Amino acid sequence: MNNNCHSSNLNPHLKSFEEDTLFHIGFSSTHDDLPEMFGDVKFVCMGGTSSRMKIYSERFADELKMEWIDYTKGERYGIFKAGPVLCISHGIGKPSASIVLHEVIKMVNYAGCQDVVFIRMGTCGGIDCEAGTVVVSDKALDEMLKPEYNLHVLGKVVTRPTQLSHVLAEDILSSQSSNNGFNIIRGNTLCTSDFFEGQARIDGAFCHYTEEDKMEYLKKVRNAGVRNIEMESAVVAGLCNAANIKAAVVCVTLLDRLKTDQVTLTHDQLMKYEMRPMDVILAFVSKKLGKQ
Ligand code: URA
Repeated sequence: MNNNCHSSNLNPHLKSFEEDTLFHIGFSSTHDDLPEMFGDVKFVCMGGTSSRMKIYSERFADELKMEWIDYTKGERYGIFKAGPVLCISHGIGKPSASIVLHEVIKMVNYAGCQDVVFIRMGTCGGIDCEAGTVVVSDKALDEMLKPEYNLHVLGKVVTRPTQLSHVLAEDILSSQSSNNGFNIIRGNTLCTSDFFEGQARIDGAFCHYTEEDKMEYLKKVRNAGVRNIEMESAVVAGLCNAANIKAAVVCVTLLDRLKTDQVTLTHDQLMKYEMRPMDVILAFVSKKLGKQ
């Protein structure tokens, strides 16, 4: 007996499980009809907060004229479906994103989804670009500027590569109209484990380095082709690579880190900028579904 684990890339132990409880997202591989609920999903869109993912999913449903369903169970992660688009929140940082990605990768596998792509739509700090710029990531770099997601497993370091899909990035970029009113650039993304010291800020509760040290590091980061800094891209890239799923990361910058450390946008500016990754992915999904 197995519970319908299709992929040869995934954990071989799963095939022998009678039931897999996806605890954090609230589904069961046997008690929920995952193929019926999610079998048509083609795009898994992920972002930090549940409220933002709800807004994104409502917009997908409106624009694509698709049915909208709220599948959120509990308080941890929001899950909303708009036709073939699944919008899921991943919280802040690599541990939170890793937990939900493990469960969602298994879920799309149990559901039998075909040719599904994963896209993170988030916010970030920019490097050498004005606030409101949308960055489509080439690869995620760690704090040592390596294209790696490193995890400690059984007391050893397991390294997963963090190259994102060139094909998907090109597909996303080629579906954009030139007059959408904001800049879209490509570049590497620095993915850190901390917002303050990990991102070379001098405004955290602790800081033992100078403004000059900070600028020296940020310039080194810029020279490595980095155009933005955030906290989840390496997990999205690393786990999707391991699962053989195409992935993209599309984030909007809230500030230019070569100029400032603090995010001082007004509520209205933030709302406006946060819709930009959504606009980019909506254009891409519409084109893919032949709705443009
Ligand atoms: N998110 C980050 O991780 N860093 C920023 O500077 C802004 C948003």
